[in-house]
Amino acid sequence: MAANCLPPTPSPMALSGGTATSSSSSAAPRLLSLSPTTTPRPSSLSFHSLSSSSSVAASLKCLRLSHQKRSKLHAASGNFGTVVTTKCFASDLEQLKSAREDIKDVLKTTFCHPILVRLGWHDAGTYNKNIEEWPQRGGANGSLRFEVEQKHAANAGLVNALKLLQPIKDKYAGITYADLFQLASATAVEEAGGPKIPMKYGRVDVSGPEQCPEEGRLPDAGPPSPAAHLRDVFYRMGLSDKDIVALSGAHTLGRSRPERSGWGKPETKYTKEGPGAPGGQSWTIKWLQFDNSYFKDIKEKRDADLLVLPTDAALFEDPSFKVFAEKYAEDEQAFFNDYAEAHAKLSNLGAKFDPTEGISIDDEPAAAVPEKFVAAKYSSGKE
Ligand code: HEM
Repeated sequence: MAANCLPPTPSPMALSGGTATSSSSSAAPRLLSLSPTTTPRPSSLSFHSLSSSSSVAASLKCLRLSHQKRSKLHAASGNFGTVVTTKCFASDLEQLKSAREDIKDVLKTTFCHPILVRLGWHDAGTYNKNIEEWPQRGGANGSLRFEVEQKHAANAGLVNALKLLQPIKDKYAGITYADLFQLASATAVEEAGGPKIPMKYGRVDVSGPEQCPEEGRLPDAGPPSPAAHLRDVFYRMGLSDKDIVALSGAHTLGRSRPERSGWGKPETKYTKEGPGAPGGQSWTIKWLQFDNSYFKDIKEKRDADLLVLPTDAALFEDPSFKVFAEKYAEDEQAFFNDYAEAHAKLSNLGAKFDPTEGISIDDEPAAAVPEKFVAAKYSSGKE
């Protein structure tokens, strides 16, 4: 087990010891001095909206005592003159691996693949490449765990994804929210039959709601000039036309619900039975399967029960986007290769990594490999 991690359930000892931060980007071993009189500061106990117990645990994740150090512990009279040796990264390798298995279990029982993908995207997609400072630049930093950001109109409904992940966060004190969101998203894509995504971990979390980005950094589905709007938003993130088209292919999963985003039908023949909570309008027939049917379905648009947002339609209307959209409709492997690369890029946006090079949780890291459209009848759910 790596020296920098706690066991999955933090010991009562660790929970009663003191505070530690994971903000340093150094990978060198750090020495922390523990005193029994040190108590967590109230501010570190209440910094997020879903669970205060996990934030205590998170702030203590570096405080793992090695076996030898434990044997030197002086418990008499509560006098713990203990030096704790720890090599602490933002997230712990073994806990990340174990959490991935827990996420797979949640996926199997709740069919929440789409909303977990959306959660990861909305945490990362606030990134602004023109701002150098972290966390002002936004991006994959766990800020979406705070209520103030969940209340942004674009994030309607994502609180449900957070509720699904919170028990996993509570179980693994040594994982940041930023990593957990991206781990959940990548795992959901892979478990839905999508490509293996060459992910890395070690994202540092923002510490308070005042560090959330302002509202309005995510794209609108129905702006006046959809292609120009997509470029405004995604170029600001440092992404390309190819990335925009490939990432839009994530809409092969999931549904739009009028009561959340205002888009989509309340239900269709493909969604009225679920699985998961019934209702909404999907982009594809098999909306829990990650494949290239999103591009095929937009191109051959014949089914009014399938959704096409104005920004989806733009992918076949704009000449530059269209090159990629046509290719992905024809060639699923090309879509998978470009999607995997773009998803990994998206998941890293704005993130501060500790260690700076990131942590791979795969034993064999995945390699990043990178007709005429008839705009017949789109179904956007809006009259
Ligand atoms: C290109 C600009 C994009 C726009 C305008 C857009 C817009 C939307 C809208 C309106 C919804 C419906 C939300 C609801 O009613 O619950 C949605 C859902 C979704 N989006 Fe996007 N999106 C975009 C890009 C992306 C990207 C880049 C990803 C991932 C890489 C993504 C993944 C998803 C997923 C998986 C869902 C389904 C969520 C669910 O079923 O709960 N979207 N999107």
